[in-house]
Amino acid sequence: MTTPDRLLPLFTRSHGGGRSSMTCQYRCGNACDQDVPNTSDNAYFGDLVAAGVSRRAALRAGSAGAALVGLTAWSMPSAAAAPSSPATGAGAGAAGAGRAGSSALGFTGIAPTPANVDAVKVPEGFAWAPVISWGDPLFAGTPAFDFDNQTPAAQREQAGYNCDYVQFMQGGPGDNGAHKGLLAFNNEYTNDELMFRGVGSSADLTDEQLEIVQAAHGITVTEVARRNANSPWRWVQGGARNRRIHTDTPFAVDGPAAGSVHLRTSDDPRGERILGTLNNCAGGETPWGTYLSGEENFNQYFNATGAPDPQGRLKRYGITSGGRGWERIQDRFSVTKEPNEVNRFGWIVEVDPQDPTSTPVKHTALGRFKHEGATVTLTADGRVAAYMGDDERFDYIYKFLSKGTYREGDKRHNMGLLSEGDLYVARLDGDGAADGEYDGTGAWIPLVVDGVSKVPGYSVEEVLIWTRLAADRVGPTKMDRPEDVQPNPVNGRIYAAMTNNSARTPAQIDEANPRASNKHGHVTEFTEAGGDHGALTFTWKIVLVAGNPSDPQTYFNGYDKSEVSPISCPDNLAFDAAGNLWISTDGMPGTLNHCDALYVMPLEGAEKGRLQQFLSVPVGAETCGPVILGPDSVLVAVQHPGEVGNASPDNVVSQFPYRGDGQPRPSVIHAYRRHGR
Ligand code: FEO
Ligand code: CA
Ligand code: CA
Repeated sequence: MTTPDRLLPLFTRSHGGGRSSMTCQYRCGNACDQDVPNTSDNAYFGDLVAAGVSRRAALRAGSAGAALVGLTAWSMPSAAAAPSSPATGAGAGAAGAGRAGSSALGFTGIAPTPANVDAVKVPEGFAWAPVISWGDPLFAGTPAFDFDNQTPAAQREQAGYNCDYVQFMQGGPGDNGAHKGLLAFNNEYTNDELMFRGVGSSADLTDEQLEIVQAAHGITVTEVARRNANSPWRWVQGGARNRRIHTDTPFAVDGPAAGSVHLRTSDDPRGERILGTLNNCAGGETPWGTYLSGEENFNQYFNATGAPDPQGRLKRYGITSGGRGWERIQDRFSVTKEPNEVNRFGWIVEVDPQDPTSTPVKHTALGRFKHEGATVTLTADGRVAAYMGDDERFDYIYKFLSKGTYREGDKRHNMGLLSEGDLYVARLDGDGAADGEYDGTGAWIPLVVDGVSKVPGYSVEEVLIWTRLAADRVGPTKMDRPEDVQPNPVNGRIYAAMTNNSARTPAQIDEANPRASNKHGHVTEFTEAGGDHGALTFTWKIVLVAGNPSDPQTYFNGYDKSEVSPISCPDNLAFDAAGNLWISTDGMPGTLNHCDALYVMPLEGAEKGRLQQFLSVPVGAETCGPVILGPDSVLVAVQHPGEVGNASPDNVVSQFPYRGDGQPRPSVIHAYRRHGR
């Protein structure tokens, strides 16, 4: 599909983290405007340890910040020290910052797209098409999307809003060869002002509109098909495995906190059955073919006005005055009326997408925080390791290790693996500035091991329900908004995106989070000891310090910075079959005045660190959930198109995906190489 660019006035207003203020409001309840929830005094001393200064000595010295100031003056390896650029065809050598160049990856990288362009940009020789858009009907009798006549009943049977994590599966029952598959994707949040005419804020929503926005949250599962191997995937209305999971869908609860008194409510006095999943952001596919999804900014749906908070359990999770108005139609979203309901969100959930009658599960063993997602791999002895980020400024990276071991082909057994195991949180210690790299060693600090709490004063269920508060007590490293934490299936290392943290002060930098006012973010590589995901120690290295390559603070894994693309706010990560790192972004309009985009960066070989841009998404949108199907075939979720200040249904700034209804519709799209045309 090709569409002419629609050029709009450049907008530069943005909020913390580079997003538009409208995105901040609806995505995370303006988290950046609120106090940093982590006020624990576990501090920023990892570097001092590596530099030969004990934590105790650093504390005695009184000011960690003063001791760390030297880190701001670090310089990374210069272009002169980087490997010379290979000649890779047209464009090589001419590609400077912000310009396109060819790569050994088989496409010519595109130049950055100005932030006001309403178009999807793909490399020369590629095309794109929507796979499924918000409102597309899933079942045989589901009404077609009708922007001005939406109903709760229709929305419960249509694709949800704001697609994020995407999982593509083939080989399941009914996939019948190469031209059928199954797609599942998160529906993270709604934009109430773009979904309805005349709505200036969530406070304006009618009760029926509140039901519609609730039904547009959750997870969508749909069968997909394509005409032939060269044509794009498209959703199948009436597919046998199609399903919508939304805020009224029942979930089972398992793990050590199931049935806890802190999870019991008037509707569920046993604490074992929860209605709905909220703010599902990223996720991961398990080796047994299920779908994991992270409940992220769940706090914003709960109104805690007047609720007592003597232990700071609400404040640590940002649960304050609400703002979405959901308590107007369901008492459970009022913390004063139903104090424990809020404890029933913030979990990793598991769905079996192959069985639309299955009951999805909330796994308490993986802890409760603002889960970006969970990605699963196996340890050397066959246990499951799940890596997880808590997407908040100054929060932590976690790892879960299952008690049981994976059994090939035994799905029933494997679906119990996330129900019992050990939970750890990461500490990263820098090794000092002398080597010119941001790197060091680290440890997984135990929170729960063998069914026993390792946090003084916390029971196991308290560790799991108030994981942030428990972790604060054991000294993990405060990170710059850890988003995706992804195992690379080719080299066995773990890659984690720190999307940004403009609140970090010079006194708070450490080698693992080395920039004050970190508005562009970075990507960190972890190597578990012995290459075993079951290890409890690791080494780490920052492989990308994002930003404009002309900025001396940036670093592209040692590659010549005159030949890489600008990038900012890395969010979702993925790998292709060769192990190259693909990075999608969330926030570039506000930080570089470019549309958000999808990039690829080789991790090995002559082009190691040569970051190139593959596609960009329209004005106001974020790139999410990349799935690299092959060298010429990529799925991405285009989330919140047209979401810029002052936009409304009567003043649209994007009509993506240009299907004739005149409104922006979040969509999963397929970018693919054109053949024979
Ligand atoms: Fe939903 Fe962490 O982004
Ligand atoms: Ca170092
Ligand atoms: Ca994300």
